[in-house]
Amino acid sequence: MLTDLKAQPADKILQLMQFYREDPRDNKIDLGVGVYKDATGLTPVMRAVKAAEKRIWEEQKSKSYTGLAGDPAYSAAMRDLILADSVDAGRVAAAATPGGTGALRQAFELIKLANPDATIFVSNPTWPNHLSIIKFLGLPMVQYRYFDDKSCDVDFDGMMASLAAVKAGDVVLLHGCCHNPTGANLTLEQFAQVADLIVEKGAMPLVDIAYQGFGDGLEEDAAATRLIASKVPEMLLAASCSKNFGIYRERTGILMAISADASQTANTQGTLSYLNRQNYSFPPDHGARIVSTILSDADLTADWKSELEEVRLGMLSLRTQLANELRLRTNSDRFDFIATHRGMFSRIGASPEEVQSMRDTHAIYMVGDSRMNIAGLNAQTIPLLAEAISVTCK
Ligand code: LMR
Repeated sequence: MLTDLKAQPADKILQLMQFYREDPRDNKIDLGVGVYKDATGLTPVMRAVKAAEKRIWEEQKSKSYTGLAGDPAYSAAMRDLILADSVDAGRVAAAATPGGTGALRQAFELIKLANPDATIFVSNPTWPNHLSIIKFLGLPMVQYRYFDDKSCDVDFDGMMASLAAVKAGDVVLLHGCCHNPTGANLTLEQFAQVADLIVEKGAMPLVDIAYQGFGDGLEEDAAATRLIASKVPEMLLAASCSKNFGIYRERTGILMAISADASQTANTQGTLSYLNRQNYSFPPDHGARIVSTILSDADLTADWKSELEEVRLGMLSLRTQLANELRLRTNSDRFDFIATHRGMFSRIGASPEEVQSMRDTHAIYMVGDSRMNIAGLNAQTIPLLAEAISVTCK
């Protein structure tokens, strides 16, 4: 049996992590996987997370199972954090999942259950694992135009032209904020137009929000998701706590499903619980409990928000510094978009050969499509990267 297994394609982001680890050069710079690092290269445990873990350790009396959909307090806290009052809470079903990827997987499974003929429209480009999971599940998929390689901005006309092909019952996957891999984002006005088109077509949005708090602020980054939720009858929402709570390895995510009518919610909730049972039974609890402990305590919430804001402002400052360095070195405004992109990533428009050359010659690791993790930079590495880009990129 096992001899019949075919080798599977490697995930490009994870493969890059491996290449980086194996590179013996001291001056190597990791701008690959989307993990936040401070100026010393550490991915710190946030203060509020430490405090919440201490409290859980002291107060938790049992590690027996939670519900199949996880702890309702976690679901309610996440619903408030992301959706606020944009929809009636009675319309929102939710299930805790192992990370944002688990939420996406369950979302795609739910789509397959509800309408196996649904075509999922995904941005071109998108996070590679979106494509991989959709293909793995055998769901029909179409990529819509999203990024203009020349301006490194959103090609909104192209996007709307592609989405004209959406049909009733299809699903449009949108990045709620901080588009991965490009860093180029729709304006709220553009999100509103997309939501209107989805409603007009009788389709459903699936919003993936994995970087809330990394772009323009915690509330600002949720604004598009809230706007869409307020406009559409039905919506799926996959969220991750990996980045904004810094709890990557705890695998903490959530899938929310908003029904058109509160009378449908119990059935939708039952389906989410059923899907959890089929895939892994009870979802992991520790990360979810950290999150609900923080969000149910005013002091911990305030401390978490202030640390998250420091992280966000730090990344913005790195963006500005890099754009300035590139301005000086290229004597042009060609890379100014780096300062206007938002979130952890920017796709800088280098060719695969140029990306490879930066790796070979300058020990700089970015994903092959020229996505770089801004949080992997610091004051020392910015001039090195700017130099490498300016001598390599045509
Ligand atoms: C990324 O895009 O680098 C992150 O979301 C990590 C991952 O799992 O790919």
